[in-house]
Amino acid sequence: MFRHLREDLNCIRERDPAARGTFEILTCYPGLHALALHRLAHACWQQGLLWLGRWISHWGRFLTGIEIHPGAKIGRRVFIDHGMGVVIGETADVGDDCTIYQGVTLGGTSLGTGKRHPTLARGVVVGAGAKILGPFTVGENARVGSNAVVVREVPPGATAMGIPARIIQDTTAQVREAQAAKLGFSAYAVTQARDDPLSVALHSLIDHSAEQAQKIDAIMAALDRLGVCPESIGEASFDARRLNELVDN
Ligand SMILES: CC(C)(COP(=O)(O)OP(=O)(O)OC[C@H]1O[C@@H](n2cnc3c(N)ncnc32)[C@H](O)[C@@H]1OP(=O)(O)O)[C@@H](O)C(=O)NCCC(=O)NCCS
Repeated sequence: MFRHLREDLNCIRERDPAARGTFEILTCYPGLHALALHRLAHACWQQGLLWLGRWISHWGRFLTGIEIHPGAKIGRRVFIDHGMGVVIGETADVGDDCTIYQGVTLGGTSLGTGKRHPTLARGVVVGAGAKILGPFTVGENARVGSNAVVVREVPPGATAMGIPARIIQDTTAQVREAQAAKLGFSAYAVTQARDDPLSVALHSLIDHSAEQAQKIDAIMAALDRLGVCPESIGEASFDARRLNELVDN
């Protein structure tokens, strides 16, 4: 129990810049209180104490404004920020490290008794007021924009925005990361300063130089194999990762 609490405190400290200290988090964060009560309610639910589970959940809602059905599965280090108006349905499954803001509904659209609420994979962020409706999965590290209404699956890493939600997949970062991996370095914070033309230009130059350096290395290796490589030319030391870090900082 204390391990869970410590994890919860740490994740709030990491994800809420407004969090000032442990005492403040313990006493003033309804998301923390709601999750503690949910753990109790869920344990009762699993033991077959259904009414007691519902009753604890009801008090949790009364005290925090966050309604989590006792049957819902909530992972570790989940942060419900502000929380008022959050509703999490019975068959919802919230993965580890998810962040949920106020007014979010993880709801169902059918009256059947089976799985009818969404599953959030690890690291999903659900913006304020978003509604995710149905028994589909929102993929790992996906983001749901505030006030979006999501009615179908969201792929990992994608962003869902609008009503009904449009899925936006940022392939720029993935393409650049794949290119960078081929060249033997890892693109650094590719999305951080996308709007800054100078930064974009510098990153492009670094990518280009890394590619050139790799080609020169290959030519030198070929010349070396032919025995015509002048010994005076040493290995080029081009640290693309370091340069990318310098641009982004
Ligand atoms: C969806 C979200 C994750 C996108 O963030 P982002 O990738 O940084 O996107 P940007 O802010 O650069 O916006 C990209 C485009 O989407 C639009 N957009 C952003 N958020 C949107 C939303 N929730 N609904 C509809 N459109 C949205 C922007 O207007 C912009 O449109 P444009 O390209 O035509 O100018 C973010 O806007 C969001 O909603 N986060 C939730 C935050 C939250 O709920 N905070 C609560 C704190 S209490």
